[in-house]
Amino acid sequence: MNPIPAHVAIIMDGNGRWAVQRGLPRIDGHGAGVETCDRIVTESSAMGIRYLTLYAFSDENWSRPVEEISALMDLLGQYLVRKTPKMIANRIRFETIGEIDRLPPSVQSTLQATKDATAAGTGMTLIMALSYGARSEICRAVSRLLAEGAREATQETIGARLDTAAYPDPDLLIRTSGEYRISNFLLWQAAYTELYFTETLWPDFSPSELRAAVEVYRKRERRFGGVR
Ligand code: FPP
Repeated sequence: MNPIPAHVAIIMDGNGRWAVQRGLPRIDGHGAGVETCDRIVTESSAMGIRYLTLYAFSDENWSRPVEEISALMDLLGQYLVRKTPKMIANRIRFETIGEIDRLPPSVQSTLQATKDATAAGTGMTLIMALSYGARSEICRAVSRLLAEGAREATQETIGARLDTAAYPDPDLLIRTSGEYRISNFLLWQAAYTELYFTETLWPDFSPSELRAAVEVYRKRERRFGGVR
C-alpha cells in the first residue's frame, strides 16, 4: 500500500449542473461548491495531507459571463475572510498559483492578507489555483529562463521557475462531475500523478468520498515508468 498522498490536487467541477438540476441559478452551485471546499480542506488537513491544490478559477474561466466571474470573485473574497481564522486555528498555510495580478485589486488584497495571516502555518499548505492555466505557467517559466540568458532548458530549470516550484508534484489528482479531462491543470507536474475521476458533482463531493479516493490511490501500483 502507498502511504497517504502528500499532495492532492482537485478539479472541482459540476457546480453549474448541480444548480441547474435544482432549478437554481448557476451561482448558487458555486455557493454550494464553496461549502464543499471548506469541508474538503478541513478533512484533508485532518487526514495529514501536506499539500492540497484546488483549481478554483482557470485561464479559460475568464470567458464566462461577467456576472458569473464577478460572483465567483465575491465568493472567493468572502470565503477567505470567513475561513482565515479557521485556517490559522488548523495551522493551514494559504498560497496561490496562477496570474494573481489579473484578479480584481480587492481580491488581490484579501488573498495577500490571508497569505500573511497564515504564513507561519506548519500544517497543510492549501494552494488555490486562480487565473491559472498550465500552458501559460510553462510559457512564463520559459520566458523567465530566456530573460535570465539561459541557453538551454532542463527539467530542473523549468520546474524551478513554475508557480509550483516550492511544492512536490501531486500524487493524486481528483476530478468531479464525470468529465475525463485535465483541462490545462498542472500539465507538467502531473506527469506521474495518479488520476481519480468520479461522477459526483463538486457540491456533493464529501469527506467520505475523499477518503475513498485516497484508499483507491493507496492500492495503486506506482512505477514511474520503471518496473516493479
Ligand atoms: C466548475 O463548475 C467550477 C468552477 C468554475 C470553479 C470552482 C469554484 C468553486 C468550487 C467555488 C469557488 C471557490 C472558492 C473557494 C471561492 P462549473 O461551473 O464548470 O460547473 P458545470 O461544468 O456543471 O457548468
